[in-house]
Amino acid sequence: MSTSPTVFRLAERLDGVGFSDIVNVRNRIMELRAGGATVHQFEGGEPNVFTPDHIKEAMTRALSENKTRYAPSSGIAELRAAIADKLREKNLIPASQEDVIILNGGMQGLFGAFQLTINPNDEVLVFSPYWTPIKDLISHCQGRTVLVPTNEARRDGFAATLTRYSTAQTRAIYYNTPTNPSGVVFTRAEAEEVSRFAQERDLVVVADEAYEDLVYDGEHVSIASLDGMMERTITSYTLSKSYAMTGWRLGYAVATEPWMTGMRKTLLYSTNGVSTPTQWAALAAFTTPSDFLEKNRVAYLERRNLLLAGLNEVGLPCESPAGAFYAFPDVTRIHADSRKAADILLDRAQVATVPGIVFGEHGEGHLRFSFSTSLETIEAGLDSLRRNL
Ligand SMILES: Cc1ncc(COP(=O)(O)O)c(C=O)c1O
Repeated sequence: MSTSPTVFRLAERLDGVGFSDIVNVRNRIMELRAGGATVHQFEGGEPNVFTPDHIKEAMTRALSENKTRYAPSSGIAELRAAIADKLREKNLIPASQEDVIILNGGMQGLFGAFQLTINPNDEVLVFSPYWTPIKDLISHCQGRTVLVPTNEARRDGFAATLTRYSTAQTRAIYYNTPTNPSGVVFTRAEAEEVSRFAQERDLVVVADEAYEDLVYDGEHVSIASLDGMMERTITSYTLSKSYAMTGWRLGYAVATEPWMTGMRKTLLYSTNGVSTPTQWAALAAFTTPSDFLEKNRVAYLERRNLLLAGLNEVGLPCESPAGAFYAFPDVTRIHADSRKAADILLDRAQVATVPGIVFGEHGEGHLRFSFSTSLETIEAGLDSLRRNL
């Protein structure tokens, strides 16, 4: 049978959409392991603890109570109300239940946010290095990603830098704090500068606060809480990192109209909501008193300090990540090409990391080390670097 190229091709909107390079790193690790090597793994991107018991118990309860039928597509009222309370109290975002939608992880919130704001050829300003899927999500809308180097903004001022990279096509700013992969936590003054710029240029802000609970230095400021920002910001949250729930696929977004209608449409015609028992389980995260978040943060802080000191000691200079769970040292001493540097670390020291170039051109010359791993793994990896670098 012939396969005509005019038929057997994907729709153009998928042309610029790629897959993550991190898959290549994982394949190399599996090869090494199959050959009997011990690999010190720093390439991961998820919590190394388990989901708290009170959330798992709420899931079991929901199942035994047969809470397994269709729920409203935008989410059960109880969960949306509890999240609106959390947003008002913790994030200082003046949200009501109508401004909250329950989604399948942070990814679906970000997917929706770009789908509902970006037309073909619209440009999105993205602080860089940046979380790789963002470029693919923007490409999926046939929009264009314009990278704004975070270092340049911090050196020259945010207003001057954002002005330099914006054009008449600029439609939105992607604002991720704490930042994956650099661990940067934008300050209140920086959030205010971005907010002034967005208002002066009439731009939408897509805020990504996936790591809001992992801040070690400074404060987490939700940009939607600033004056005049609630209306022009779509903020995406997830339980993945905060509650070690990556596999549950539970996130939420907060936005006002017209964005919320757009988000409801993208949800309705994709997954038509999140699994009902999962939503009842998530309710426990917001309504059961627990010291999980703070205990977790303190544990990460200890691991950050250990990894940071070790990296600097072995001659891989690293700025202190103020948030998230990644260190992003300069590895040009090993190789200016971060893919080569990652291969060298893996071959010589069996230390697995992610090449900085995966996070865009401004990540080149760096490697991403996750400290979401055990203290023992960090000790063993550093020890191997000391002996083999
Ligand atoms: C910056 C950032 N945003 C959003 C997400 C989305 O997470 P999820 O889809 O698991 O909720 C991640 C996950 O790695 C992330 O690093």
